[in-house]
Amino acid sequence: MTTIAVIGLGTMGLGIAQTYAAAGFAVLATDAAADVRDTALQRLRARLARRVQAGKLAPSDLDALVSRITLVDGPEAMGRADLAIEAVVERMEVKRALFAALESVVAPDAVLASNTSSLSVAAMAQGLSRPQRLLGLHFFNPAPVMKLVELVAHPGSGAAALARARQLTERAGKTLIPCPDRPGFIVNRCARPFYGEALALLEEGRCADEIDAAMLAAGYPLGPFGLIDLVGADINLAATESLAAAMQDHPRYHVFAALRRQVAAGDLGRKTGRGFLFPEKPGPAPGD
Ligand code: NAI
Repeated sequence: MTTIAVIGLGTMGLGIAQTYAAAGFAVLATDAAADVRDTALQRLRARLARRVQAGKLAPSDLDALVSRITLVDGPEAMGRADLAIEAVVERMEVKRALFAALESVVAPDAVLASNTSSLSVAAMAQGLSRPQRLLGLHFFNPAPVMKLVELVAHPGSGAAALARARQLTERAGKTLIPCPDRPGFIVNRCARPFYGEALALLEEGRCADEIDAAMLAAGYPLGPFGLIDLVGADINLAATESLAAAMQDHPRYHVFAALRRQVAAGDLGRKTGRGFLFPEKPGPAPGD
């Protein structure tokens, strides 16, 4: 049976594990944090139970999906993976160390993939003995729902690895768009001005709810602040800083103080329970 390995079971990794398990693949999963690893299947069950309650998933399908995911202690136990995808913290040295560990256990034709939002896949491949098998598979949040996966080739990515990653991920119901290994790939690059103009309006005194309400009414499925709250202000800041650095601080990628303040306050969005849009501030009392 084809086996997918997922390393990192936070916001993205658990959703990626769910995506491939839902498509019938065997999934090996791990996280460096024992509490994250130990609660992963419980968190997944809770998430899927809501789908069962809504009549969108049969209880037996929930059990079958979860049973296809096996938690393991670390990358050293992922030797039978055909495709290993990392969704760990956005730090180059952590990702490189992880790929070196994976490379020493997987089969020669296994594919290694990064879910990085902003780091160079070519730089990640440096030091690997088979750089041709490394590529980017950039999922979007929430991974089980969002159709798009950006397929990122670095100059040394091999055609066989790219074709295999595409084939397996299309079987999981995704639409793959090839992307250059350039900062922000396609979507994050195009999205920067969208966030940036909203943050500029906020700094000019408009409120986040009002800006999002306008964008929603204009037909956007989610407003800029709703999106930041969903993705995480920390992730959004890291992606903006990385693009700003890569683009020699071009004004298009300006890092707004409002975003920095949000991260410094720990108001990261859904994952911390405080974001730009919530908890909702009480409106004016009647008669005010
Ligand atoms: P997260 O912080 O929710 O989860 C990261 C997980 O990785 C944590 O549970 C942590 O314990 C674990 N971890 C850290 N170092 C590890 C290691 N060496 N081995 C195993 N596990 C390790 O982060 P999130 O948001 O899931 O992001 C993960 C990756 O996905 C990042 O590269 C990020 O840029 C990318 N990404 C994030 C998106 C988002 O909307 N949050 C969207 C698309 C990509």
